[in-house]
Amino acid sequence: MEKKNIDWGNLGFGYMQTDKRFVSNYKNGAWDEGVLTEDANVVISECAGVLQYAQTCFEGMKAYTTEDGHIVTFRPDLNASRMKDSCERLQMPVFPEDKFVEAVCKVVEANEAFVPPYGSGATLYIRPYMFGSNPVIGVKPADEYQFRIFATPVGPYFKGGVKPLTIRVCDYDRAAPHGTGHIKAGLNYAMSLYAIVDAHNQGYDENMYLDSATRTYVEETGGANFLFVTKDGKVVTPKSSTILPSITRRSLMYVAKEYLGLEVEERQVALEEVKDMAECGLCGTAAVISPVGKIVDHGTEICFPSGMTEMGPVTKKLYETLTGIQMGRIEAPEGWLKVIK
Ligand code: PLP
Ligand code: COI
Repeated sequence: MEKKNIDWGNLGFGYMQTDKRFVSNYKNGAWDEGVLTEDANVVISECAGVLQYAQTCFEGMKAYTTEDGHIVTFRPDLNASRMKDSCERLQMPVFPEDKFVEAVCKVVEANEAFVPPYGSGATLYIRPYMFGSNPVIGVKPADEYQFRIFATPVGPYFKGGVKPLTIRVCDYDRAAPHGTGHIKAGLNYAMSLYAIVDAHNQGYDENMYLDSATRTYVEETGGANFLFVTKDGKVVTPKSSTILPSITRRSLMYVAKEYLGLEVEERQVALEEVKDMAECGLCGTAAVISPVGKIVDHGTEICFPSGMTEMGPVTKKLYETLTGIQMGRIEAPEGWLKVIK
């Protein structure tokens, strides 16, 4: 398979149209078989449920070329299961989990020429999503839906690759108790746009959201969960019912414990204790694990001892072990890699 002539090493996190995408339609209470198509456009009613009441959810995952030349995806069953949770919360029909994984594999295989080569620093980002497609004007769920998956080659989510980030404690909230913070609903991202543009305008890379009920506990950023390393080497991640259950974070906690022999804790993390942490990172499919060097809380700077030039030592070990597993350099736990080719 001849690869596309792409400058893989200089890709940012952006959209590039690839050859094929998967489309399945839900009508009269059932999903059709679905097809791969070259048509990258979506044509729907002006009154479609997604356009009027934002009835849409999505997933994000990646395909990797391994050291020995295979193409794999990482724990796609967990994306399928999280999409099921998102659909149920948004009154959308579930796309069967086994069919979800099958369709992901088909899309990757059909776009093999866009899967970045091993060692290029880029990956193929896969975006499954679903939306209400028929006209809805009274507030209610749509009757018809479209489930699609496209893929696009990407580089690092944050410009500057692994350079530590500066983030701020945000005064806007991302999720309410008993709301939709724990699912991957498009609406969670729409309402974060004002805050992220404002953060960027003020020179910050991202927002740290706090729990909206008490504004005392760390939640997550707009697109990643937090990991902290304590001064005595424990890996700590915030526990909350209003954050997205990151697959990367769950994997990193396993890696920390089982591969690196570190103590791990998933518990509430008060903003007050962040100043005592040794390292901080943002983890997610897009972010992988991006080190945070500084957090600014309304003029007060929290500077992590790991500094502003390099990843902290524990973050680095976690990064190397996780990406080593994803690229086939380190043996993966049973079931983590789905070999496509
Ligand atoms: N939190 C939010 C709000 C996200 O959008 C994402 C990205 O998917 C994550 C966390 C990280 O989740 P995952 O590791 O499953 O990609
Ligand atoms: C991902 O990491 O896949 C996400 O969906 C995060 C998004 C903000 C790009």
